[in-house]
Amino acid sequence: MGSPQASLLAHLFKGTFAHSTCSSPMDILQGHLLGVEESGKIAFLEPVDEQEKLAKKWGFKASDIRELSNNEFFMPGLVDAHIHAPQYSFAGTRVDLPLLQWLKTYTFPAEARFKDIDFAEEVYTRAVRRTLKNGTTTACYFATIHTDASLLLADIIDKFGQRAFVGKVCMDISESFPEYKETTTESLKETERFVRGILEKKYPRVHPIVTPRFGPSCTEELLSSLGNLAKVHDIHVQSHISESEGEIKLVEKMFPTYQNYTELYDKNNLLTNKTIMAHGCYLSDEELKVFNLKGAAIAHCPNSNISLSSGLLNVKKIQKHNVKLGLGTDVAGGYSASMLDAIRKAIMVSKVLHNNKENETALSLKEVFRLATLGGSQALRLDTVIGNFEVGKEFDALLINTKASDSPFDLFASDTFEDIIQKFLYLGDDRNIEEVYVAGKLVVPFSSSV
Ligand code: GUN
Ligand code: FE
Repeated sequence: MGSPQASLLAHLFKGTFAHSTCSSPMDILQGHLLGVEESGKIAFLEPVDEQEKLAKKWGFKASDIRELSNNEFFMPGLVDAHIHAPQYSFAGTRVDLPLLQWLKTYTFPAEARFKDIDFAEEVYTRAVRRTLKNGTTTACYFATIHTDASLLLADIIDKFGQRAFVGKVCMDISESFPEYKETTTESLKETERFVRGILEKKYPRVHPIVTPRFGPSCTEELLSSLGNLAKVHDIHVQSHISESEGEIKLVEKMFPTYQNYTELYDKNNLLTNKTIMAHGCYLSDEELKVFNLKGAAIAHCPNSNISLSSGLLNVKKIQKHNVKLGLGTDVAGGYSASMLDAIRKAIMVSKVLHNNKENETALSLKEVFRLATLGGSQALRLDTVIGNFEVGKEFDALLINTKASDSPFDLFASDTFEDIIQKFLYLGDDRNIEEVYVAGKLVVPFSSSV
């Protein structure tokens, strides 16, 4: 931007902005001006009528404004609350077995390959590029048990400018594939090295997350040590819970002294207000009460739940218990790395569950749009920083062009702006995602330096 005064703002856009708030699942603000400060924070989002007042306050000229076309709009960046970066290597294949067999047959052997740092670099670079291109501005990643490769993942994420949590996976039990596990001592020591390694780097937007794989992969000793480690560093925790019936039976057999799966994590200090647990398809009311009490969140991964025939999560039940919920791709149990796919599958699952039932309605597209943006930010406890276009939050955003060249859908004169947004959410893809911003910085198209 030209004038010296204009340096107060890094970006100034005029057009349509669609986002969620606590009171409205989708607010479509047409004819608005949005300013982004140099710090990456949103300075204002106001109707164009306020232009003169804003221009005075922020020192910009009319020529500084970038005006969007009628086919374009901004929406908040998508939050993938659960994804396995190494599994991107086989995403789109091998979804023909139930969870425990799928882990043993495909997943553990695939993850064991990440001992090779060159292979890790190739897959992790591709996973970060692919998710960013598809509009994932924030991702909560599982890596593998290999500390150096997991540290490399964090480095790649930082280089591309994505916002993320990264977890080195912990597992000291692996009966089905003994080549892929650590000793209890190693797992704890390496997690400490991983957490310290990330914190020392002082990345602005990449954080460590303590990651016990799931109940059946961990001894009680490991779970409780990891719980303590999360407490000492006051950091996030992620794992899987109640994803499939086979898994739950195994947990009951392995940990007979615990009343349920939730208690296993809770008693070992792993259920906090910084915890995000994937799936939760079979959590009881009693367990959900504990989630609510502790402020722990759930990542709903509908593609994975269908692809591995794990089960169907009733989101309305989770919401009734006031438990925070985000959406995840769960690559590669979920075959798509795109959060647009997670949005669509979440709606489908909800429609299947609420089909023809009295007093029940399925989740609407707008509600699922909120889960994929604001909901994910709440589940990851980032909602004071991202999730929508509230003033003071960081500008994580997607510029959507609904008439991009080669767009996979068509618009007609009778389409309202709401129709246009719906068409993008149901039918669009990365061809429509023209630009991606994280904390006000343009990260897609990729800069030539990455
Ligand atoms: N449970 C334990 N590990 C995994 C995993 O890698 N993917 C899924 N979907 N569930 C798990
Ligand atoms: Fe998972």
